[in-house]
Amino acid sequence: MKTVHVNLGNRSYDILIGAGLLERSPDLFEMRGIRKRIFLVSNDSLFKLFGKDLLEKLQENDYQVTEILIPDGEKYKNLNTVENIYTYLIAQRADRTSTLAALGGGVTGDVTGFVAATFLRGIPYIQIPTTLLSQVDSSVGGKTGVNHMLGKNMIGAFYQPHLVYIDTETLSTLSQREFQSGLYEVVKYGLIYDQPFSELVRDSMEDILERTPTVLERVITRCCEIKAEIISNDETERDLRRILNFGHTFGHALEAAAHFQGMTHGEAVAYGMIAATHLSVMEAQLDTSVADEIIRNILQVGNLPPIHTLHTEDILEAMSRDKKRLGNQNFFVLLRAVGKPIVTGDVPEKALTEVWEETKRVSASASSRG
Ligand SMILES: NC(=O)c1ccc[n+]([C@@H]2O[C@H](COP(=O)([O-])OP(=O)(O)OC[C@H]3O[C@@H](n4cnc5c(N)ncnc54)[C@H](O)[C@@H]3O)[C@@H](O)[C@H]2O)c1
Ligand SMILES: [Zn+2]
Repeated sequence: MKTVHVNLGNRSYDILIGAGLLERSPDLFEMRGIRKRIFLVSNDSLFKLFGKDLLEKLQENDYQVTEILIPDGEKYKNLNTVENIYTYLIAQRADRTSTLAALGGGVTGDVTGFVAATFLRGIPYIQIPTTLLSQVDSSVGGKTGVNHMLGKNMIGAFYQPHLVYIDTETLSTLSQREFQSGLYEVVKYGLIYDQPFSELVRDSMEDILERTPTVLERVITRCCEIKAEIISNDETERDLRRILNFGHTFGHALEAAAHFQGMTHGEAVAYGMIAATHLSVMEAQLDTSVADEIIRNILQVGNLPPIHTLHTEDILEAMSRDKKRLGNQNFFVLLRAVGKPIVTGDVPEKALTEVWEETKRVSASASSRG
């Protein structure tokens, strides 16, 4: 088992990473002083896969655990689900000594964290992330929240968990597509922060894709370390934390232009990173041979849904909507080299058009190769 300490003063906590950690939950809870009343938030299928065993194991050890099942899917990451959880907690007489535990992907984690942040003005919560994306990204950093009809993640709070524990074995049931989507975020960490790690990910891609436990543990641990380091220095996203958005300004536009259909977040970020790499050559003097290598590494993860049929104007339009929302400024994270990011403000529209055309060409030639 590996431990990553997230250093945030009196809100510090640990992330534990290893195969088979779920089975050791009672001990882990005991060691961390988690109190006996626990509400386990999950969805139906994950509860069947892992939750029921977890609940029984905890109950055998004198924990009083109640499950709260929420519907599965991003479209249920909203205030309605939050309200249903509040109602349940109140009906079950939850109080300040109760702990919430989120068992699931980023949706479950974000919703549960937001409930924990707001119920009775804040009660402790634990993250037990089960997708690769949530293990390397959403469970770390304390961003919680839900979507509003008019925009994603519009409502939320920064609220740190008490403990995060990542059982890498849970990934064995994750679909290939969800797994690969999370892997793009893994690739991102190497590119923005750690060149040797980037090489490690490249060289062990086959083992990662086969989900070899030791390799997963190592890779996930490094991602958590990197994110922990970044957020310890900038908890509320003023400056440094922005580099985590590498590929995301472009990626978000792509998700919007595709109407959030046919493309996962990770896949959109993959294209976003390809676009940002092109822009880095134009605006940050990134070496072209390094750029080619970066793009190869991204494509090495697996097939991406084609985007060359999307209209560049639609994507640019989505970017300018985003820009308005962000106080008339888009931010681009560019690379001077692998592990050497810079954050820059607006770039000329002409450059953006060129970048998208270039990125669509990558998509077209990847699709023609099959
Ligand atoms: N808080 C943050 O800092 C942060 C960062 C990135 C993303 N997010 C949020 O995370 C969400 C996306 O998270 P996600 O990609 O984990 O999606 P998700 O939670 O919707 O999970 C994806 C699917 O996989 C299923 N699943 C989860 N674990 C499984 C397992 N082990 N085996 C089989 N199926 C499993 C889920 O039930 C779901 O159907 C978005 O809402 C995004 O906004 C938050
Ligand atoms: Zn992301």
